[in-house]
Amino acid sequence: MDEKERIEELRRLLHEYNIRYYIYNDPIITDLEFDSLMNELQKLEQRHPELYDANSPTQRVGSDLNGNFEQVEHKYPMLSLSNTYNEQDVASWYDSVCRGLDGENFNVCCEIKFDGLSISLIYIDGKLIRGVTRGDGVHGDDVTTNVRTIRSIPLVLQPGDYPREFEIRGEVLMPWNVFDHLNKERELAEEPLFANPRNAASGTLKSLSSKLVASRHLDSYLYYLLGENLPCDGHFENMQKAAEWGFKISDAMRKVSSLDEIYDYIKYWDVERKNLPVATDGIVLKVNSQRQQRLLGYTAKSPRWAIAYKFKAERACTKLTDIKYQVGRTGQITPVACLDEVQISGTSVKRATLNNEDFIKKMDLHIGDYVYVEKGGEIIPKIVGVAYDKRDAHILPATFITHCPECGTELIRYNGEAAYYCPNDSGCPPQIKGRIEHFIARKAMNIDSIGPETVDEYYRRGLIRNFADLYDITVEDINGDGNRERSAKKIVNGIEASKSVPFERVVFALGIRFVGETNAKLLARYFKNMDALMGATEEELKAVDGIGDVMARSVIDYFASHENRKIVERLKHYGLRMSIEESSEENTTDKLNGMSIVISGVFATHTRDEYKMIIERNGGKNVSSISAKTTFVLAGDKMGPAKLQKAEKLGVRIIDEETFLKMLE
Ligand code: IVH
Repeated sequence: MDEKERIEELRRLLHEYNIRYYIYNDPIITDLEFDSLMNELQKLEQRHPELYDANSPTQRVGSDLNGNFEQVEHKYPMLSLSNTYNEQDVASWYDSVCRGLDGENFNVCCEIKFDGLSISLIYIDGKLIRGVTRGDGVHGDDVTTNVRTIRSIPLVLQPGDYPREFEIRGEVLMPWNVFDHLNKERELAEEPLFANPRNAASGTLKSLSSKLVASRHLDSYLYYLLGENLPCDGHFENMQKAAEWGFKISDAMRKVSSLDEIYDYIKYWDVERKNLPVATDGIVLKVNSQRQQRLLGYTAKSPRWAIAYKFKAERACTKLTDIKYQVGRTGQITPVACLDEVQISGTSVKRATLNNEDFIKKMDLHIGDYVYVEKGGEIIPKIVGVAYDKRDAHILPATFITHCPECGTELIRYNGEAAYYCPNDSGCPPQIKGRIEHFIARKAMNIDSIGPETVDEYYRRGLIRNFADLYDITVEDINGDGNRERSAKKIVNGIEASKSVPFERVVFALGIRFVGETNAKLLARYFKNMDALMGATEEELKAVDGIGDVMARSVIDYFASHENRKIVERLKHYGLRMSIEESSEENTTDKLNGMSIVISGVFATHTRDEYKMIIERNGGKNVSSISAKTTFVLAGDKMGPAKLQKAEKLGVRIIDEETFLKMLE
């Protein structure tokens, strides 16, 4: 077999394995085997650029800049569905279908209404040609490069009786677990949170970096096949076919033939939807036969043959007992409503978000009011109204605090911002501790030998006042005269190991307001070293693609502080990375994500420090001692016998230099 044939074979095999994994949840090879075939394909494709194919399984990783999206016209307009909210409305739709079909029998396909963003996919000769957003229903954005990174969307179909050309529509979704994880990261970076998975999926799919899209693990469900020569008349049957071709189709689709069965379906999924991995906001009912669909036709906005039934957002009425004020790492004050505990959607709710002072004023909230609280698609319950008729005549309007609840400093409001801030950044405890917690976070310096409780303890004991102090801590400081020497050593080693974290992450770890992970990378790559970044003018900062006025100002303000400059100088002195590795951009992957690696012995190709950096750059974590949690030991010559024995005892793999470097190719 020549290399061209092997490329074709690998592409075919990998498409099949992808579908088994992402569509059927039934992988037929191990991850390791998959990775090794993917590696082989990548290498062969590098040798044969003339055989480039945008639909190759290797193209799922995305690129950094896609450029702006082109607007394209939908072949068939993307209509919406009319909504119903109760059984009577469903019954009248059902009656209207009966009348429209002159009493002819008909089936209804009941489906889940997924709460993401709709997408239209065009396939020709079994290959994905284009992915377009709904847009205004007539024109949408061509987001093909981003769509290609979504693993559950097949790039090439499995053999089957699909038409030469067809369109399939569905929903792009961000699963709850991905959404929760993403928001946690954003919270740490003090970036604005996504209110719900729909916004997160939409923001992601419209990103100009398909690499970012690939990293966000979007999912999809397809629910509508359009084209001239579809295999069956029945919508349900066509969707079963689409599943065979490799599309992800919901298992929850049911074909029914009576109103009672529709009610049963609604009742069942109104409860059971809480166990689904993605957000849903209702049920969709579709007349199954396409012939009958054509008979029923369309109104100006929506089909007569389909309707949506929307689930009710659960709501409760409870008492607002107090408003508490939280102080974030950047000093931002967040008001939180304290409520008499109440059950909503099976969870007990005691707090609700209040956004800012304007919200409190607009709602005219009084402490002691009875308020309506809803938990819809949003993660945090929100107050949607006040039961003014229940208001006690003696209670007073809530007034926003004027001084920091933690340090007593007078609060300020920046120009044009709705939020208040405590300006005492160097003396306000939650701000100090918050900055240290941010510094040690996984995406920053990745020091997981300490957590928020330890930060709190060291702060109380006066061991740390800022994150540079971490590098001065000794085993004796931690241990005092106690018996915590072992864990103290582990902590100090963990701090030491963080010195090999790449420069981009050091910039992020500083916790400059508005500078999240991505922007820290942009700054690091542009200025290349800390001195250049510290000395940059506002104009120079704004010259960086992706850095706007607010962020440029924030960087200037950060380095204008004598205190901050002193901290950075100390970090430099301790040996943290203060400049970019020239080759680091190409060498950054997530191949070692989640792996804890111990380095031991003497190496031939790279030094130990270089290996530490390689591990960090590829998403892995350097740990100093072997435990059951260690993924493997990277062993050179003369690995210590004690380490060897421990690794063997715990069954931890030992990998030599050559194998390790191969893993990263
Ligand atoms: S069918 C002409 N089925 O809901 C009918 N839509 O307001 C085309 N949606 O824009 C849509 N789940 O984004 C259909 N199972 C499902 C759906 C669904 C979610 C969304 C879709 C559409 C909106 C309708």
